Amino acid sequence: KLSDLKQLRRGRLRLGVLTTAASVAPEILGAFCLRYPGIDVSLQVTNREHIAERLRAHDDDLYVTGQPREDDDEIETTPFAPNPLVMVARADHPLVQERDIPLARLAGENLILREPGSGIRDAVLKHFTALGVQPQVRMELGSNEAIKHAIVGGLGISALSLHSLTLESAGGQLALLDVEGFPIMRRWHLVYWRGRELSLVARTFLDFAMEYEPEVRARLAEAQAAFDRTRLKHS
Ligand code: PGA
Repeated sequence: KLSDLKQLRRGRLRLGVLTTAASVAPEILGAFCLRYPGIDVSLQVTNREHIAERLRAHDDDLYVTGQPREDDDEIETTPFAPNPLVMVARADHPLVQERDIPLARLAGENLILREPGSGIRDAVLKHFTALGVQPQVRMELGSNEAIKHAIVGGLGISALSLHSLTLESAGGQLALLDVEGFPIMRRWHLVYWRGRELSLVARTFLDFAMEYEPEVRARLAEAQAAFDRTRLKHS
């Protein structure tokens, strides 16, 4: 239809994504905007709680969130790429060379946690509680990027999405710890309101993102393999 073509030629797309998707969403948007150069895009990057608020307030067309609540049948959710949570330490940390580290061994480590409202924070605390381990929380930081710098600065260890580490995986100052229960395997979901018709632009983006998903997975696998290789090199 002519009106459809017009929408795709001069449309608008508002996305709200989790902080863990901050690296992936711009990349997919970049590819999308190459194909549909007339579309204006806004991208909001925030934590799980704020994404839920934005969703309730209809602030954006489409969201990348974590695990949706099961009782929520008002929203349409499509499973998207995996979002593994890994335990990260500075590359020279003594535990980096160890295998199968029991979670209890982390009780004596300084743990850096995300802010309240973060899905990563909840997942990490849940895991510690489930195994009856009391973490020693050294500091709270509201950004994955800041956490990476804090780890390098020697302030402690922390759990991050493997997606936020793709640039560091090639060998550098960060390493993954082989800790009991990690990676915590989770998944992103593409989410929108059922009752509100998805705009053609948003629908087109959703399909585009699904097509792009294998590439996101491949990037993740590469990052994991690169971290494994650097560990082997140093052992
Ligand atoms: P967040 O991301 O910690 O920014 O809320 C959550 C997630 O990846 O599940």
